[in-house]
Amino acid sequence: MKNIVVLISGNGSNLQAIIDACEQKKINGTIRAVFSNKADAFGLERAREANIPAHSLEAAQFASREAFDRQLMQEIDAWAPDVVVLAGYMRILSPAFVAHYSERLLNIQPSLLPNRQVLENGDEEHGTSVHFVTDELDGGPVILQAKVPVFEGDSEDDVTARVQAQEHTIYPLVVSWFIDGRLKMRDNAAWLDGIRLPPQGYAADE
Ligand code: GRF
Repeated sequence: MKNIVVLISGNGSNLQAIIDACEQKKINGTIRAVFSNKADAFGLERAREANIPAHSLEAAQFASREAFDRQLMQEIDAWAPDVVVLAGYMRILSPAFVAHYSERLLNIQPSLLPNRQVLENGDEEHGTSVHFVTDELDGGPVILQAKVPVFEGDSEDDVTARVQAQEHTIYPLVVSWFIDGRLKMRDNAAWLDGIRLPPQGYAADE
């Protein structure tokens, strides 16, 4: 069984979607541990509820970002992860961390990369992107995106809820592709079943 480690900072609804997908055998892997940089993250409770070891590390206890990440890496590596999944992890990663998990580090962003700030822009669609993490902030190769409509009069909460519903579908799917060896990162691009994905990921419609 492949090993998954998930990093969170908050609610953990994406973590929950991945826990559920593992339980339903939609992902052929096991979440070995969950780590948070916030001790009160609700996602830690979700992990414990699912009998997954859940730990938090407080930044205040460390002299530097590098020292924090070094400790985190050590704790993560104790679980021999095949993939490290960032699921609402709200902390900038040190270059050493990114390098250490290079090509096996996934993130989800509530935006149609490379665009952001939808409501301010007056866009008619919003969305979410799952991507590999590289040194370029939010700039790693996109694997899969989902779009949602933005209607007139929508509040930010309306749009967020619509986006999150999509996240809970696409993130477990991408994790399952990776775990099954179908998805890889190579030459700074994402590859699915040996095919190089376009800049907007799988099934891009433009
Ligand atoms: C998600 O919208 C994700 O795109 C972003 O942070 C949010 C985390 O939500 N990176 P949750 O903690 O998974 O509920």
